[in-house]
Amino acid sequence: MTEVKLDRVCKYFGETKAVDNVDLQVNDGEFMVLLGPSGCGKTTTLRLIAGLEKPTSGLIFFDGEVVNELEPKDRRVAMVFQDYALYPHMKVFDNIALNLQIRKVPRDEIRRKVLEVAELLGIKHLLERKPGQLSGGEQQRVALGRAIVREPSVFLMDEPLSNLDAALRARMRGELKKLHERLKTTTIYVTHDQVEAMVMADKIAVMKNGKVQQIGTPNEIYSRPANRFVAEFVGSPKMNIFDAGFVIDKNPRLAAGSFDIDIPDSLAEVIKQNASTSELLVGIRPEDILVSTIKREGFIEATTYLIENIGNLSFVTLQIDDVLLVAQTPPSIGLRVGDKAYCKLLVEKLHIFDKKTEQLIV
Ligand SMILES: Nc1ncnc2c1ncn2[C@@H]1O[C@H](COP(=O)(O)OP(=O)(O)O)[C@@H](O)[C@H]1O
Ligand SMILES: [Mg+2]
Repeated sequence: MTEVKLDRVCKYFGETKAVDNVDLQVNDGEFMVLLGPSGCGKTTTLRLIAGLEKPTSGLIFFDGEVVNELEPKDRRVAMVFQDYALYPHMKVFDNIALNLQIRKVPRDEIRRKVLEVAELLGIKHLLERKPGQLSGGEQQRVALGRAIVREPSVFLMDEPLSNLDAALRARMRGELKKLHERLKTTTIYVTHDQVEAMVMADKIAVMKNGKVQQIGTPNEIYSRPANRFVAEFVGSPKMNIFDAGFVIDKNPRLAAGSFDIDIPDSLAEVIKQNASTSELLVGIRPEDILVSTIKREGFIEATTYLIENIGNLSFVTLQIDDVLLVAQTPPSIGLRVGDKAYCKLLVEKLHIFDKKTEQLIV
């Protein structure tokens, strides 16, 4: 079992800062997800941990020991890639066994281990086939088997499910999670899919432009995003964000042009203390907007702009002058495009960002 730590790690390719001053701690047995858009430095971070790249600066620790100079083979990590990288001419059994064969593990022991892993992954009946005779999901299991059989201290997984169709991807992510619960091996898992990150991770590190934006549990990342980027990247449909001015005359409020949101004094105080100017960005998730078809006290009048019904839920886009807000409603709410609607933004669910820095204020 292994704890992995990155201390101010940078990796530059010429002018490109692929990994820019990353601090990261992955505790023993933890499932850490690196989440971010394409090109943000996830794969490079993983390759640095594997030893396939050397950091430009900074230190990488395994269990408190610096491993910067350790060869990949001496780090006891196993990497699973997006493209599986199976050997097409070799049977599944040998694909899984290869690393043990190279290490001259006795044949009986290899056989025992491969069968054990094949049992765990439900691929025992496939051991005599070649990779070309397997489905995408089966190939992915073989790739996992090859990693597991080495009994690594750390699993490094780079978008391992992204070549599978949606249904299989959903099933495999559940299976991977259960596998982690059984093996309890420290795992660092890369994805650009925020749903995958939310359902699999113990902790998520959100990255952008080589920098870590926030590290936290899925719940922390979702309910208290540290900045605008994280707020918009996690959650679907994404968080509504609009400009508002912070005004205190009679009562403190957020003035969004065509509508105002009254806020309690306590909230106003926090904003006053922490905002760099009175210009704010106000965020609210679709499920935190109440929608009514009839006029109600404290509700804002809007026009129904778009309705997206996904069966058990509807997402209604409401227009209030030039602000569009997506709200989550029951499918039975009975609104049609063009109808008047009334909405209330739950004040205790607002996310308020500094407009200039885009960092969370409260
Ligand atoms: N070997 C390389 N040579 C030059 N640039 C690279 C190399 N590997 C990655 N990069 C660049 O570093 C940045 C981060 O890439 P990568 O880590 O692959 O991102 P991600 O996995 O998040 O999509 C990108 O701008 C990419 O073009
Ligand atoms: Mg990548």
